Amino acid sequence: MPRAQVPVTGRSWAPGSLWPMCGIIGVTGSDDPLRFVLDGLALLEYRGYDSAGVVLVATAGEAEGLSGTGALWRRRSAVRGESIPALERFAGTDLVPGARTGIGHTRWATHGAPTEGNAHPHLDCTGRVAVVHNGIIENHRHLAAKLVAAGHVLRSETDTEVVAHLVEAEVTAGASLLEAVQRCVSEIRGDFGLVLASADEPEVLVATRQTSPLIVGRTSSLGLVASDISALLETTRELYALGDGEIAELRPGVIRVVDRAGTRVEPTRLRVGWGVRAAQREGFEDFMSKEIHEQPRALTDTILGRIHADGTTELEELGIKEIELAAISRVIVIACGSSYHAGLTGRVAIEAWAKLACTVEIASEFRYRNPIIEPGTLVLAISQSGETVDTFHALREAKRRGALTVVLTNVVDSLMTREADGVLYTRAGPEIGVASTKCHTAQILLLQVFALHLASLRRSLSTDEIAELAALVVAVPARVGDVVARFDEYRHTAEQLAFVDDVFFLGRGGGYAVALEGALKLKELAYVRAEGYPAGEMKHGPISLIDRDAVVVVVANRGSLSAKLLANVEEVRARGATVVALCDTDDPEVAGLADIVLEVPHTDETVAAAVLVVPLQVLAYGVARARGNDVDRPRNLAKVVTVE
Ligand code: F6R
Repeated sequence: MPRAQVPVTGRSWAPGSLWPMCGIIGVTGSDDPLRFVLDGLALLEYRGYDSAGVVLVATAGEAEGLSGTGALWRRRSAVRGESIPALERFAGTDLVPGARTGIGHTRWATHGAPTEGNAHPHLDCTGRVAVVHNGIIENHRHLAAKLVAAGHVLRSETDTEVVAHLVEAEVTAGASLLEAVQRCVSEIRGDFGLVLASADEPEVLVATRQTSPLIVGRTSSLGLVASDISALLETTRELYALGDGEIAELRPGVIRVVDRAGTRVEPTRLRVGWGVRAAQREGFEDFMSKEIHEQPRALTDTILGRIHADGTTELEELGIKEIELAAISRVIVIACGSSYHAGLTGRVAIEAWAKLACTVEIASEFRYRNPIIEPGTLVLAISQSGETVDTFHALREAKRRGALTVVLTNVVDSLMTREADGVLYTRAGPEIGVASTKCHTAQILLLQVFALHLASLRRSLSTDEIAELAALVVAVPARVGDVVARFDEYRHTAEQLAFVDDVFFLGRGGGYAVALEGALKLKELAYVRAEGYPAGEMKHGPISLIDRDAVVVVVANRGSLSAKLLANVEEVRARGATVVALCDTDDPEVAGLADIVLEVPHTDETVAAAVLVVPLQVLAYGVARARGNDVDRPRNLAKVVTVE
């Protein structure tokens, strides 16, 4: 994170702790907890808007007359983008007189469709424990099976609900909410921020986290908790970042933090320097830079529980029988824009690892070309939004012609998921900036996981080879973290190129798709003519455009085609072009040929694309910002393209 942007000091709020999914808010001690929670949710909505829900805790007397859920009053809505306004109709109605505690959640769906039944808060069997959650509970299936065997009835498809039932068992046995959470939390694997309320303790909230952040706060009369600071800033500046594994008990005006063993912990105060708007961007200048920084997290989440360093892959959520997948003989990828580029990277893995013929098609062309779909063809649509009309119609056409279809998307229950036979979700969190960044790299990584999954089903690689590749894939989020950490350096380099007019991006092999993506980003954000080209193809025509005014960005990481690529670099250098090399740190040979160097830590070329694309995102970002462009809303573009 650029130093100037570090918004909070005290307990770390590093880019690695950014968590894109779901908003959480909780208050105790308020005269109008529903108002407080709804206002907080409105500020957190940018984190997810598939559904929203609230629980208020009635004090014993006021519990009477509350149907179904005992002393917890719950309302949820799942009208995408409209759920918080839908809950507003309960505000000011005094439906739960005397309630002073409330929790709320705005959801970005990962497990289970964005329905009201899957909306948080979730309740236990007795309706006396409520939980909201941000993150992914990796072992939820295992926990659910155990709970069902013990007689619990789970009502949602989420990974979250298990927590309410685990806590129920402890509370029923006489534990306080804090003790119950303390006992249960070690059973939960994955990343989570959890806030719980109990009908038995109407003025208590308990919060705990692992990886996914939670902020707790207080005033003299309130106890407060939220998934991020923006929801609390207007109420207090006395805020504390809950540490990994810590558990906070909140009462009106009082915060008590313990570790999992129950030992008291002194929470570290945050010193806050910004207002609410900046807080939504978590201190970043814009959503694009925030989303670039979120990539390590987005990639970690995308592969969580799906691939392991020993080579095992788990994609049962895909909903297609393994026997059917193992029998496919050909893959056609259909997509547009950045998703198309991710498809090109995916093709390399599908061919090399799964040993399947794979073509990648621009969706808007595929549909009208009378495409041949032979038996055994899998058509894989890639779409961040799941709504792009060109891809949607191409998918529908492929299905009509008998293809087995899968959609790879970031948006749960989006249009294409209802059309395709199977679905693979990236878990990048909502992407607000129009130019795709974290969704693009998440697509690449998930495609690589899918290719390895196919490889193991088809036995196209040995177990050792699969394990070796899996280890490389699993390491990608950390490598991406290393390049994201150089954001300032890349941005500074970009500023040197602020006034270029014409740029070629060249790559070979896996670098070609990276070059295309770099060019697209520069075009759409900086409004600079930019062309992505296979380096070996330059001499067949485009090299006539190269002169002293040309800028050529080469994707020149070390790999099997390095020598050939360097020969192409010499060709453009000889004609006077300014060469910008994206290359490994300590590669004197490439650095010696370049006028400007963008260094990346070496990553094996088979999985390098998601790493290499990041400096090019920052390059486009830096040029666009230097030109005064709005990077979150570039001209003439929309986030979801619903016209042909
Ligand atoms: C570029 C970008 C677009 C999208 C394209 C497809 O930064 O975001 O090129 O990739 O419009 O959109 P989806 O993936 O939603 O189908």
